[in-house]
Amino acid sequence: MAKDWYKEAVIYQIWPRSFKDGNGDGIGDLEGVLEKLDYIKSLGVTAIWFSPLYPSPQADYGYDIADYKNICPEYGDLELFKKVLDGAHERGMKVIMDLVVNHTSDEHPWFKESLKSKDNPYHDYYIWRRGKGKRPPNNWLSMFEGGAWEYNKGLDEYYLHVFAKKQPDLNMDNPKVREEVKSIMDFWLSMGVDGFREDVITFISKQDGLPNGFPLPIATGIEHYKHGPHLLEYLTEFRKDTLEKHDCFMVGESPLTGAKDALELTSGKDKVLDMLISFDHMQADCFMTDTVAVPFSLNRMRKAFDTWQEKLYGKAWNALYLENHDHPRIISRYGNEKFRKESGKMLATMCYMQCGTPFIYQGQEIGMVNNNLSSLSEFKDVVTFNNEKLFKKFGFSEEQYLKIANKTSRENARTPVQWDSSAYGGFSTTEPWFSVNPNYTEINVEEAEKDPDSILNYYRKLLKVRQNSELFLYGAFKDLLPKDEKIYCYERTLGTEKALIICSFSDTMCTFRTPGDYDLEKGELLLCNYPDAPAKAHICALRPYEARVYYYPKEK
Ligand code: NOJ
Repeated sequence: MAKDWYKEAVIYQIWPRSFKDGNGDGIGDLEGVLEKLDYIKSLGVTAIWFSPLYPSPQADYGYDIADYKNICPEYGDLELFKKVLDGAHERGMKVIMDLVVNHTSDEHPWFKESLKSKDNPYHDYYIWRRGKGKRPPNNWLSMFEGGAWEYNKGLDEYYLHVFAKKQPDLNMDNPKVREEVKSIMDFWLSMGVDGFREDVITFISKQDGLPNGFPLPIATGIEHYKHGPHLLEYLTEFRKDTLEKHDCFMVGESPLTGAKDALELTSGKDKVLDMLISFDHMQADCFMTDTVAVPFSLNRMRKAFDTWQEKLYGKAWNALYLENHDHPRIISRYGNEKFRKESGKMLATMCYMQCGTPFIYQGQEIGMVNNNLSSLSEFKDVVTFNNEKLFKKFGFSEEQYLKIANKTSRENARTPVQWDSSAYGGFSTTEPWFSVNPNYTEINVEEAEKDPDSILNYYRKLLKVRQNSELFLYGAFKDLLPKDEKIYCYERTLGTEKALIICSFSDTMCTFRTPGDYDLEKGELLLCNYPDAPAKAHICALRPYEARVYYYPKEK
C-alpha cells in the first residue's frame, strides 16, 4: 500500500469557540490555542484541524462565513494565526483548515451584492429562482430551518439554503464561483496551511432543474444534491488547478455517502479527496439523524465499520472518528457514563486500532461526557431550535424535548474544554459563552495528567503503539466474531505479523473464546484498560467494557 503522511497522521480537531480562552472574554481563541500547542503535541498528535476561524456572524458558529481570507476578530487576526501555524509547524504538527464552500453567510459581501439586482454580477453566485405562483420553486426542506427557500420581495425571487436561512447556497455551476473557491484554497495554502477539511463538500452540485424531492420531515430534496451530477467534475477541477500544486491533504465531509461512493471520490490516481468523513458508523443509536434516538446496536455499528474497512482496504483510506462538533459525546452514546473510564478507553481502542487516520475531538481524550442543561433557554444552536419546533409540532412537550436535546443535541460536544478544577473549568477567567459541564471538578486535563490510569494517558499509550507499528498503520482488517452480541473482535495482519483486538460492549462480565487458533497466552498484551488481564490460552472473562490488544510477531 502506498505510504503518505496523512495515512500516518493523528488529527486533533479544535472547535475554537470552546477550546481555550486566552484573552479573558469568555470565548475560545487563538491565544488559547497557542498556550496549548505543547499539550496537543504531547498526545501524539501530528496535525490540527481547525473548525472555521473566519469572520462570521456565528449563526452556525463559523460555518456561515462572511470573509474567507481573514480571521474572526473574536479569535484573533491573521498575524496571530501565523504564529499558531508556525508554532504548530515547529512542533512537527500540520494545520488543516475548514473549507466551507457549499454556502456562505448571508452577510458575505457576495450575497449582499447578489441581493441588489438580478443583473448584479454576484446575483448568479447563488441559487436564485422564481416561485411557482405563491409557492417556492420546489418542495425542498432545509436540514436546519424549515423550507429550503427564502423569499426576497425586491427581487421577487427565492434563494436556496439547504442549511439555515443565513447560509445561502453557492451556485457552484457558475465558473466564477469555482474560481473564487480556488483562490481561497490558494490563499491559505500559500500561507503554509497543509490541507482542508471540506464541509459538506458532496452537496456542492445540485441536480439540474432542481426537481421536487421525496417528502421527509427535514432535508426533503437531499437525493438531488447529496452526490450531485457535477461533483466529481468540480472536485477534479479544484485538484488539478490548485491543490496539486501544493502537498495538500483533503478530507471531505460526506453525509449519506456509502463506501461505494467513497471509492469513486478517494481511490485511484485521479482521486479528488484523500478520505471522507462518513456517517454510517455514527448511526448505531439513531435513525437518520442523532435526534431520532434508538437503542444502541453493536451490530449496526460493527457493520458500518466493517464495511468501510473491508471495501476501502488497499484502494482508499478511512478517517477514524467517534466525535466531532456535530455529535453528542461518544461515552454517553456508545459507552456508559457509569463506566466512563473503561468505556472511554475501550471505544478509543475499538476505533483507532482499525486501519485509517485517527481524528480526536477536543475533550474526547479526557473522556468528557454529555451535558445536562436544566432549561431549553440555555441552548445556543440553530439545530436545537429547529428541532424544538419540529418536536412540538409532533406533540412533544417542552419537558420531553428538553430530555431529547440533552441526550441528542450536538451542543453536548460544544461545552468548554475542562482544563482544571478552578472556576469555569480553567477555560476562561470570566463566564464563558456557553455553560461548562458541572462535572469539571472531577473531569479535567489537570486531574487526568496526574492519574497514570486516566483516559488521557491511555490515549497517549494507544497512539504510541499505533504510530510505531506498520501493522497498525497499514495491516489488513478482519472481523473475527461478526455475530457476537457483546464483543467486537477483529484482527490486523501484515504478512505473518498479527494483532488481536477484543472490545466488550457489555456492562457486565462476559466470556470470550478465541476465534481461529489465537492463543492468548502466547500473545504479547500491548494494551488493556484494566490493571491486569487474566487469561487461559483460548478463553478469558471480560470485565465491563474491557478492551485488550494482543500482538503476535512475524513468524520466523
Ligand atoms: C457540517 C458542519 O460540520 C456543521 O457543523 C455545519 O452546521 C454544517 N455542515 C453546515 O455548514
